[in-house]
Amino acid sequence: MALLNIINVPDPLLKTISDPVAQVDDELRRLMDNMLETMYAAPGIGLAAIQVAVPRRVIVIDTEGDEKMRKPRFLVNPEVTWESEEYNVYNEGCLSVPEHYAEVERPASVKVKYLDYDGKQHEELMDGLLATCVQHEIDHLNGVVFIDYLSKLRRNMIVKKVQKATRDMAVL
Ligand code: NI
Repeated sequence: MALLNIINVPDPLLKTISDPVAQVDDELRRLMDNMLETMYAAPGIGLAAIQVAVPRRVIVIDTEGDEKMRKPRFLVNPEVTWESEEYNVYNEGCLSVPEHYAEVERPASVKVKYLDYDGKQHEELMDGLLATCVQHEIDHLNGVVFIDYLSKLRRNMIVKKVQKATRDMAVL
């Protein structure tokens, strides 16, 4: 397995609409394994393929956040088929927007259709942190980052700070 490079805002790739996966094969599983390792190393609880510059509809999630209780999920071509009328607010962050957090309101529960690591189809009801996380990651596949829900002023401020931090890091 290998660690992949995570891209940050304002990289225009993050605005890409990712392509559906035609087939879950060994090459895709290798990508998913590397994405999972990259996510754990970051550390984060969710990662979309576009964040490692691969425009395919693949996400990995593990909301357990505990090294001893890992519960990785691989979702290929994920699609929300139902959402609750009830909303939830979470303080969200993103590996492509390091060190910045903001409250985002999303449906509290969703039903998601996807293919798993073996290409088997599922439809699953998700709630709590998992529901928020899966919606955040599906947004990435559609070129949307959580800061897009904030005011333009706040978004621009965050992007400038991330840009500066990324530049300073490159100097070291
Ligand atoms: Ni994210």
